[in-house]
This record gives sequence, C-alpha cells and structure tokens, in this order.
Amino acid sequence: MPDKEEWAVEARGLKKTFGDNHAVNGVDLNVRAGTIYGVLGPNGAGKTTTIRMLATLLRPDAGTARIFGYDAVKEPQIVRQLIGVTGQYASVDESLSATENLIIFSRLLGLGRAEARRKAAELLEEFGLTEAAKRPLKNFSGGMRRRLDLAASLIAQPPLIFLDEPTTGLDPRTRAQMWETIRRLVKTGSTVLLTTQYLDEADQLADRIAVIDRGRVVAEGTVDELKASVGNSSLQLRVQNSEDIRNAREIVEQVLKVRSNVSAEAGKITAPMAEADRVTDLLIALRTGGIRLAEISVQKPTLDEVFLTITGHGVKENASPETEPSNAAEEMRV
Ligand SMILES: Nc1ncnc2c1ncn2[C@@H]1O[C@H](COP(=O)(O)OP(=O)(O)OP(=O)(O)O)[C@@H](O)[C@H]1O
Ligand SMILES: [Mg+2]
Repeated sequence: MPDKEEWAVEARGLKKTFGDNHAVNGVDLNVRAGTIYGVLGPNGAGKTTTIRMLATLLRPDAGTARIFGYDAVKEPQIVRQLIGVTGQYASVDESLSATENLIIFSRLLGLGRAEARRKAAELLEEFGLTEAAKRPLKNFSGGMRRRLDLAASLIAQPPLIFLDEPTTGLDPRTRAQMWETIRRLVKTGSTVLLTTQYLDEADQLADRIAVIDRGRVVAEGTVDELKASVGNSSLQLRVQNSEDIRNAREIVEQVLKVRSNVSAEAGKITAPMAEADRVTDLLIALRTGGIRLAEISVQKPTLDEVFLTITGHGVKENASPETEPSNAAEEMRV
C-alpha cells in the first residue's frame, strides 16, 4: 500500500457514452487520502458509471483516472488491490449462509480457518446480523444485504472504498449504524468515496462533495462552501391567515430586496437572506402591515436549497434500484 500518496483519486475529463447518452461527460474528481468524499446527484446523473470507471469495472471513453497514483486503465491489477467496491462481495453464493460467505472471503484473503470464523462472527454481530447468520443469502432483505456488503468490505479494509448509495432503502437505525461504520473506516486509515441522493447524508459524512448532474460536476467544495454559495441565511415564514400570503410576500421582497424568487406553497414563504440580521426589519414591517405569523425561522441554507439553486431542479428522494447496473459483480474479474 503506497502510504505517501496524497491523492486517493485523481480523475481528469472522464467520459462514458452509452449509445447517444452522455452518461458521464467530462468529470474531474480529486479525493484526498484519508477523507470521505461524497458524490451527490439525482437518478441517472452518472454517479454509478463514474464509480465503475474509477474502480476498473468500466473502461472510460476518454479521460484518465489515477488511484493512489496508479492508472485505472493501464494498471488495473494494482488498482484492484487498493480498492473495495460494495456490491461485489455478498453475492458469492446465494445458497450459502451469511457466515459461510464471510468465511470464504476471509479465507480468500489469506486468513486462517479459526481467524476467518472469528472475524465473520465479529462482523455479523457488529452489523446486527447474528440472528440471520445461518440463513441463506437468497432469503436476505435488501437492507440486510447492504449491511453484509459493508461487513465484507471490512475484512480486507482496502485503502480506498467505493460505496455506491450505501444507505438507500435502509431504516433510520441501520442508516445511523452505517454512518458510524463509515466514519470508523476512515478513522482507521481508509479513504471513502460514496455516492448518495440524500443531502443529509452528504452533509453528515462528507469532507468534500461533488454535485453531479447530467454527467457533469456542477459544483464542488466542502459542505459549508456549497451552502455559502447560495447566501448566508434562509428565511422560512408561515402566516396565520392564508389570505395574507400575497401581502406577506410583497413585504418580504421589499425588505429583503430579493427578487420574486420567494416561493409560496401551502402558506409558507421561503427566501434567501444576505444577513440574518435583516429579520428585525422584516418583523417590524410585517407587524405594521397587520400580518400575523404562525411560524418564522432563519437558518443556514440546507444542501437541498443548494442543489435546487445550482441545478435548477431538486433531488428526487426516491432511489430506483432498477437503474443499478446488475452486472457489476460479473464484470469484475480479479
Ligand atoms: N450499461 C449501461 N448501458 C446503457 N446505459 C447505461 C448503462 N449504465 C448506465 N446507463 C445510463 O447512463 C446514465 C447514468 O447512469 P448511472 O447509473 O451512472 O446514474 P446514477 O447517477 O448512478 O443514477 P442512480 O441514482 O439512479 O443510481 C443513465 O441515463 C443510465 O440509464
Ligand atoms: Mg447509481
């Protein structure tokens, strides 16, 4: 394992076209070793395709990808020793149990019989899969599979781990558990590149984020930098009487001097604010205008608003698993 390499991932101008679909259309990514990097984007943005190119599973049409300095196209054997990709592991044999699958992996990685057994039990315990340990994989739920995937990637703990939507479809408790595990991976020396459609996940986990839309990186930075790019504060306001909403909007726009990009929906007004301090003037104006408020808050913009501002459309919160390429495991022949 090269320990002096500062960059876990350096991708330049990556492109992949399927037919006339420019799935990935010139993506640059730099991921510093020892960090969590989030790739955020809606369905079909090109996240999985990008990861598959970085992970040597798919040949780019153009551009270069270096993993710890090694070229993903020219030196795939070395690159494969440095990475783990979730999704490749847990389906070794559907008729075998979770324990058996983990033991096979451990043995393949060179662990002794007793150690493999111990490791498997330890990981299943940590991921709350002890009760299901003896069940064949074909009877596992989606969430259980994902947990087993991540557990399998912890056996080897490669320097760079790709997690493609690690928590999509998980219940909140399991999700929190995954986040903890991901943080622990990084604390113990790994680098994690994860994709997500969940803004709060990127917010919680990632040191830096690339927002990707229609095959291109449309924004990049730390969470705070991205949020700051759309203004310092965000106002949310609800009026008591819905007939006041027009008036209230006018006052908000006048006082905050924002254009009519005040969005009113179900009696709620949201608007960007340059300075949180302006809220004092606004409250006075609203009182003078005889408008009664039901609710008001001023907060930092959420990543949701960031995404909306940058791309002009929101992030769909529903993942559609059928867009996952199902042949990733087959193509990865190591
Ligand atoms: N093997 C393939 N053959 C043809 N088209 C593909 C293939 N893989 C991906 N695509 C297309 O490329 C585009 C990007 O897909 P990709 O899976 O990378 O998106 P994604 O960001 O991972 O989306 P999701 O959030 O739904 O997983 C989509 O339009 C998809 O239909
Ligand atoms: Mg995907």
